[in-house]
Amino acid sequence: MGEAGSTARPIIDIRHIHRIFESEAGLAHILHDISFTVQQGEFVAIIGPSGSGKSTLMNILGCLDTPTSGTYLLEGLDVAKLTDDELAEVRATRIGFVFQSFNLLPRMSVLDNVMLPLAYIDVPRREREMRAVHALRAVSLPLDHYDHRTNELSGGQMQRVAIARALVNDPAIILADEPTGNLDSTTGHQVLDTFHHLKDQGKTIVLITHDSSVAAEADRIVTIRDGRIFEGSTK
Ligand SMILES: Nc1ncnc2c1ncn2[C@@H]1O[C@H](COP(=O)(O)OP(=O)(O)O)[C@@H](O)[C@H]1O
Ligand SMILES: [Mg+2]
Repeated sequence: MGEAGSTARPIIDIRHIHRIFESEAGLAHILHDISFTVQQGEFVAIIGPSGSGKSTLMNILGCLDTPTSGTYLLEGLDVAKLTDDELAEVRATRIGFVFQSFNLLPRMSVLDNVMLPLAYIDVPRREREMRAVHALRAVSLPLDHYDHRTNELSGGQMQRVAIARALVNDPAIILADEPTGNLDSTTGHQVLDTFHHLKDQGKTIVLITHDSSVAAEADRIVTIRDGRIFEGSTK
């Protein structure tokens, strides 16, 4: 890549983002003048202590929330100019979300959980199953677990199923908010190995964490404190 890589249009480009929440209690200015870029194929960690604004930022990056001011260009598109339908489409097809608490449906099988994001796509069940199997292979979940209910799995397996669900629409970007926060360190490292594997396959990964040993797995670390970018070093 070299020069071509460094001059390519970033996949994420946020400029001077502020987020101010209004409530009866008054205004809460949570994000202050946040600017950074993420290149296609990068694995970036955003680290900061609890309450520093990481999830607020992730909600904006994931088009679940809009900034009070500032610009967000996602794959070159100005997110503020998209209609609600277009935003829903971006969330469903360009971004895969992974959360600390997995958010799986416990009584459903692994395969059905991973197929859920495809429920609204007009393709035959067999095709949807094939896509789900492909995603589960990418996270190395053993084949004999595909028909297990998700509440029969270990925490690390649950998170890998959740990552497979995030992958099933083949999104360009994976946004993960404290994905190892409910896992012990050994299991957490298996999940981090999964992110490395996805990066090798060309996915762009933004991983949010308060844990410096988790952040150290990324190519680059952006530090946020009190809603401000404190440091964004490049390894
Ligand atoms: N909808 C909201 N209204 C008001 N304050 C909020 C809202 N969402 C988050 N906050 C506040 O923003 C701050 C940062 O929260 P958050 O982004 O969840 O931090 P982190 O994920 O780093 O722990 C916290 O003080 C939180 O109370
Ligand atoms: Mg958070």
